[in-house]
Amino acid sequence: MTNDYQQWQSDPLEFWRYQAQSIDWFTPPETILSQSNEGAASWFEDGEMNTCYLALDHHVLNGHGHQKALIYDSPVTGKLRSYSFQELRDETAKVAGMLVELGVKKGDTVIIYMPMIPQAAMAMLACARIGAVHSVVFGGFAAPELASRIDDAEPIVILSASCGIEVNRIVEYKPMIDAAINLANHKPTYSVVLQREEKAALLDQPIDRDWVECLDAAEAVGPVSVRGDDPLYILYTSGTTGKPKGVVRQNGGHAVALKYSMDAVYGMKHGDVFWSASDVGWVVGHSYIVYGPLLHGCTTIMFEGKPVMTPDAGAFWRVIEQHSVNAIFSAPTAFRAIRREDPDGLLVSKYDIDSLRCVFAAGERLDPSTQEWMSNTLGVPIIDNWWQTETGWPIASNLMGRESLSVKPGSATKPAPGFDVQILDDHGQPLAQGEQGNIAIKLPLPPGCLASVWNDYPRFIDSYLSDYLGYYTSGDGGYFDEDGYLFVMGRVDDVINIAGHRLSTGDIEEVIAQHPDVAECAVVAMHDDLKGELPVGFVVLNSADGQSSRIETELVGRVRQSIGAIACYQHSHLVSRLPKTRSGKVLRKVLKAMLNGENIAVPATIDDPSSLDDIKKVLL
Ligand code: COA
Ligand code: AMP
Repeated sequence: MTNDYQQWQSDPLEFWRYQAQSIDWFTPPETILSQSNEGAASWFEDGEMNTCYLALDHHVLNGHGHQKALIYDSPVTGKLRSYSFQELRDETAKVAGMLVELGVKKGDTVIIYMPMIPQAAMAMLACARIGAVHSVVFGGFAAPELASRIDDAEPIVILSASCGIEVNRIVEYKPMIDAAINLANHKPTYSVVLQREEKAALLDQPIDRDWVECLDAAEAVGPVSVRGDDPLYILYTSGTTGKPKGVVRQNGGHAVALKYSMDAVYGMKHGDVFWSASDVGWVVGHSYIVYGPLLHGCTTIMFEGKPVMTPDAGAFWRVIEQHSVNAIFSAPTAFRAIRREDPDGLLVSKYDIDSLRCVFAAGERLDPSTQEWMSNTLGVPIIDNWWQTETGWPIASNLMGRESLSVKPGSATKPAPGFDVQILDDHGQPLAQGEQGNIAIKLPLPPGCLASVWNDYPRFIDSYLSDYLGYYTSGDGGYFDEDGYLFVMGRVDDVINIAGHRLSTGDIEEVIAQHPDVAECAVVAMHDDLKGELPVGFVVLNSADGQSSRIETELVGRVRQSIGAIACYQHSHLVSRLPKTRSGKVLRKVLKAMLNGENIAVPATIDDPSSLDDIKKVLL
């Protein structure tokens, strides 16, 4: 018997044509794959469908309207509510009607800047229902980050809530939205705010509208037909420069790939309860809080809380028991946080977690020690899966719905069907097993992966498809072992991963460099036992005798104001100069190695080796 990967290898188009039959198209596609000269792939382009219809109406029409679709569990507000497929469909249809009333048409963009409440999922699905393109911006991003997304996506409407809740702190969204709109060149027509009882917002701008009033005035609308290659959403992610990239996901490939992954990768069946403890602002939230589980007829959970502190490190186990969760997905940081509070896993025994079949971890490398602790504590398979905002679903994983393989700690197991993963050297030559290099994926990328960068096809080609002819550059480094297991060791570019959140060191550098007393700076990642990585700045001042501690404090404040608290920027090392090559490039790899106490050969191209002495002194 051949396995899925072999079946895909022997006839990729036939494999995906077959998988496409698992979704309820209005008109099935005739064209399976089309590719541009540069290798960009578009899947199922002439199929007619609607992603919201597939996620909601399809289940209602097939007699599952009464089944639970979404459970909202909010320890920070004490609220608990569930929605059946019928209820979620009906409420979403009204939100879609509200958007239509506000003038949103097929192909228009809508920004969603919301906390983890059911209306965030409804807003996403409502956009899909009318063929509008949503762009969810993580609620932890500050106004300037939101502004840059407003300018790039050019939304007609911004949907938001009055506040988010961070354990014991209320985060007011409305002032940030107003500030972002003020900063942006593009001005949305409406800003619709859902008032939360924890903290209402002042709706004092001419474009402000109250969510409930708009909803009351709206009629429910049905799903429109869109093409397989019509965009479903834009999700901005950090690249190596400060300007975020708008990953474009198309409707057809997305629905087929997610449906397949729910079955093959995650081993979920219709009616199972799948819980991603993440946030709708990240790709995990898009794929595995909202779309994947619903497309597959599973119950999803929107959890407005943290793995610890809400109220304690038993929160995950409480949710698993209370909602009979079959599989949970979160970032390794979440489990490291739980382990730190409850090293012996004593809180697990307070709950009945028998429903749990598997734990999935992604967003950052699952270190062997955390994996071992999770395995010992929970007694179920702990599955690492490697992927990115760009791919939308796992590039490598153990296929829990197929022939699950034995787990090797530190490895995301093997490439998933659709992904021909290769390890290349810097010249694009394949490396042998065991040799570490750049992880690349042979084109075409499978369904569900990014089709372009929003409004910037040249940037898409330049960022992803031009390093090695015929390959997608993942930005990660790693190797295959002798059994074909993939080990992903970390980014080879300037992307930093903080608590499973992807940020750009370049973005942080831009903020620091804007301080009037800063001459130049370099931000690199420092290892952190809890959050994986933390950003650290090496900063050269113009001249600030006696002012350094004030400047350090200001830099922390500026990064919080410009990017957000999630950047976790706390440490600046003030140095007299930065190590550079003779052509003036800052040697960030050398700085990173020195910061993390690693040995690295100093490149022969260094301009002035004595520049390292100063760095050594401040790190002592
Ligand atoms: N809105 C506003 N602020 C937010 C926010 C949001 N949605 N999410 C986080 N923040 C703030 C936090 O309040 C914190 O602010 P502070 O510096 O004033 O305390 C800061 O950003 C850092 O947040 P975080 O990294 O989440 O740290 P934490 O100490 O609050 O929590 C963990 C630590 C480990 C519990 C948390 O990082 C976590 O749950 N990690 C799991 C990661 C995850 O789910 N990733 C998703 C990708 S799969
Ligand atoms: P994001 O686009 O925010 O999902 O971040 C993607 C990046 O997170 C990848 O390029 C990796 O650097 C890292 N990442 C995600 N999952 C894993 C994993 N399972 N193992 C190692 N790194 C991972």
